[in-house]
Amino acid sequence: MLCLRRTFVFPATFLLVFLYCFYSSLPRGVELGDDDSWEFVSEFAQDPAPVPVSQNVNNRIHWAKHPQINPVQSFIPLPTGPTKPIPRVQHQFGSESWFQKKERVMKQNEVKRVFWHAWKGYKLHAWLRDELSPLSGSYRDAFGGWAASLVDALDTLVIMDMYDEFERALEQLDRIDFTTTEASEINVFETTIRYVGGFLGAYDLTDGKYPILLRKATEVADMLYDAFDTPNRMPQSRWQWTRSAEGLVILPAQNTILAELGSLNLEFTRLSQLTGDPKYFDAIQRITDFLDETQNATKLPGLWPVTVDALEKKFPDDRFTVGGMADSTYEYLPKEHMLLGGRTDQYHKMYATAINAIRGHLLFRAMTKDGSDVLFAGDARGGGRTRLEYQAEHLKCYLGGTVGVGAKIFEQPDELSIARKLVDGCIWAYDLMPTGIMPEIFYVSACRDVEKCEWDEDKWYKEVHSRVTRGRPSEDPIANGKSIVAEQGLQPGLIGIGDAQYLLRPEAIESVFIMYRITGDKKLQNAAWRMFQNIVRLTTTKYANAAISDVRNREPRKLDYMESFWFAETLKYFYLIFSEPDLVSLDEYVLNTEAHPFKRPSPSSS
Ligand SMILES: *[C@@H]1O[C@H](CO)[C@@H](O)[C@H](O)[C@H]1NC(C)=O
Repeated sequence: MLCLRRTFVFPATFLLVFLYCFYSSLPRGVELGDDDSWEFVSEFAQDPAPVPVSQNVNNRIHWAKHPQINPVQSFIPLPTGPTKPIPRVQHQFGSESWFQKKERVMKQNEVKRVFWHAWKGYKLHAWLRDELSPLSGSYRDAFGGWAASLVDALDTLVIMDMYDEFERALEQLDRIDFTTTEASEINVFETTIRYVGGFLGAYDLTDGKYPILLRKATEVADMLYDAFDTPNRMPQSRWQWTRSAEGLVILPAQNTILAELGSLNLEFTRLSQLTGDPKYFDAIQRITDFLDETQNATKLPGLWPVTVDALEKKFPDDRFTVGGMADSTYEYLPKEHMLLGGRTDQYHKMYATAINAIRGHLLFRAMTKDGSDVLFAGDARGGGRTRLEYQAEHLKCYLGGTVGVGAKIFEQPDELSIARKLVDGCIWAYDLMPTGIMPEIFYVSACRDVEKCEWDEDKWYKEVHSRVTRGRPSEDPIANGKSIVAEQGLQPGLIGIGDAQYLLRPEAIESVFIMYRITGDKKLQNAAWRMFQNIVRLTTTKYANAAISDVRNREPRKLDYMESFWFAETLKYFYLIFSEPDLVSLDEYVLNTEAHPFKRPSPSSS
């Protein structure tokens, strides 16, 4: 799992070294809520007045603009020329009855009420901090300490028609000092998707009426641009920003996480489109060209492995997934095609190659007791004989939405049914659990034959058994499997649980929302409402909403943890699935991987 090390120094007494995993998010077994060291009370906790983020730290290094050590000789320009027509994504929705509308709006208001509760908690107890700690009412600064939740929530405030709150938040932006942070490294990817993406999304959604948003996006991106100042112009994804600030050389890492390299393109492209400065697009186009040239030369052609040697531009890794650490690289292929108005074929070609490999190597049908025909994407080892592991994870739930959009814009109707089965897989897993919420990571009993996949109880028990015993012989694998099922609380079809937490993640509702906008199928709205009610019932705290420790437990323990994507993504998608379908239409906007909407070029413009 993708992990990063961060050092937090708190003014009073605490020096916390804390292994923070943002894809698997919490190290298994670490529960922040129980840790004494987290039970300090923020000195600002009761004070809603704004606090300059980095005011009382002395001798801080500040980043400032300076010439590049490895300047680009000639910028790769944005592709020009007329846009290519891109087929419609959204269903043509008809009118709804008075009763349907009343019910839909009631649900939508309920989502807004939940948002408002959490937003109030953030304002009162963690204002201008990255995240509110939802149990203790304290805060965490996990993303540079630049008010990540505030920036991430900006466009959600607009979408939910909370303009007073939005404008009050905007007033704070100039108090955030983006030139410095207590963290020794800046995660370029996280900073790009949350901050640059957050500013650009709010800017686009308000038709450019608030120029400060573009100014802030540019300010952050100009700083991040230094992470690209390496000899081969591949970014140093865990950027040693103080080295750059001091004019020292930095190098890209030999174990760069694929997603951190491959999913910067929407934000940097949009910034070049809006500012006219080609340098941002140039920076990501070099990455795209590299990924394009190497796509068929990895150990599993068509896919890129989990880590990349960005220094040598090679792929020694043989682990392949579309989940955590890789995910948004694939998600951004069709999205960048849309953002560029189809002016190049590059992303279409890369997506087509990738989806063929995903279909050929990763997708499998799950054996379900209720006969549901659902698909999941496993993980593979490449090189020689490909081996598939039937692992499912919440992070992978974005895939149904991505494949659905790809099916529409590239006119591949058979892929739409694959997309639907992927979405249904996540809904199935939610419905399967006693809490009605899917676990972070689990393992599924797979069918060899996608056509014929009947429930076979003995096969299930045997697989449960052999997952635990790793193939060691046993007298009675079925009986042993049965007892493991009882011990581990495995629902029919699950053969293991790797991580039973729910971290308030958005990927499932994201794909349910996209599939709803594509098909108009009301069943998806109903599934969303079930998911929403269960999540709210089990995560609500006095201050906001909290991650939970175990979705197998009907009364799971809450964790003192709420990432900014709860505001940026999860609640936004829940709200949008119950909105009028033209609010953030997928034919007008493309959403970055943090759910920030960027305006697509209109078909006529060139
Ligand atoms: C990779 O292979 C696919 C066919 O499997 C082909 O369509 C695509 O153009 C190839 N890509 C490159 C960069 O050669």
